[in-house]
Amino acid sequence: MVEDGSYLYNEAQEEKNGEKTPDSLHEKCKTGIEELDRKLSGGIPVGNSVLMVGSSGSGKTTLSMQFLIDGARNGERGVFFTITEPLFKLIKNMENFSFYDKKLIEEGKVNIIDLRIISDRLGLDTEKYTVEDVNALLDVLKDIADELNVKRLVIDSITALCYRLQSKEMIRNFIFKLGASLASMDCTSILTSEVPPNEIKYSQYGTEEFIADGIIFLGDVNRRGDIIRTLQIIKMRGTAHSRTKSAMSISSKNGIELAPLLKSRE
Ligand SMILES: Nc1ncnc2c1ncn2[C@@H]1O[C@H](COP(=O)(O)OP(=O)(O)OP(=O)(O)O)[C@@H](O)[C@H]1O
Ligand SMILES: [Mg+2]
Repeated sequence: MVEDGSYLYNEAQEEKNGEKTPDSLHEKCKTGIEELDRKLSGGIPVGNSVLMVGSSGSGKTTLSMQFLIDGARNGERGVFFTITEPLFKLIKNMENFSFYDKKLIEEGKVNIIDLRIISDRLGLDTEKYTVEDVNALLDVLKDIADELNVKRLVIDSITALCYRLQSKEMIRNFIFKLGASLASMDCTSILTSEVPPNEIKYSQYGTEEFIADGIIFLGDVNRRGDIIRTLQIIKMRGTAHSRTKSAMSISSKNGIELAPLLKSRE
């Protein structure tokens, strides 16, 4: 028996009937992960900022990169701002996946930018930001996104950015400024959020989720001794979506894939 049977949204049927619900009026940004797009009734609503939450190794970076690569393949330029992994390591890891396409990077359809290098060029202390530093960084981030005319943007990770701020108040101000900045851009974004394993929380600092139009949680379940990766859409403004947990796999051949999660018989 499967857990993921309750949700059935049939766009084709709706179109056939000539009906247009408010949901179908939203333009969608396909993630490129077929089952995830189905669970989102077609994809992430264009313009949404989505928090991709999970513990270390849960697949946040891989899913975000797959989202950018798929967009680039379909003519949507993307930018990936990394602050957790050095560029060469990130690329080396991604080269293992068949979805990765070096050509898209070389042609500038997917731009990978190390925020530490930008901080360095701005003359900032890369480990500790002041209010002015973080504002300067946000301005550069927006300038890059506007200049490149990107339709998809990833920040990996928002947690690592907040970690460089010295007080809760600074983090709160930064998060709201980032939210306003993203809202003014013409793109759909994924912000990755690192949380401790086996905890139901969506952010390290408790404020990151306030600017998120959507939250996707990458977790684990234990099935008879095996640890299975899971994905669950917690919220997504602007669309009907499934809230059931799916089993998630990561493979070189197919990248991230979802499947129904079998109910435990234990
Ligand atoms: N080529 C591959 N084939 C199958 N699984 C892989 C492959 N490469 C990585 N993985 C799996 O994906 C996990 C890492 O995924 P990813 O880097 O996307 O996670 P993350 O959530 O971004 O982690 P972190 O918080 O450490 O940045 C690895 O721990 C490994 O289990
Ligand atoms: Mg990562």
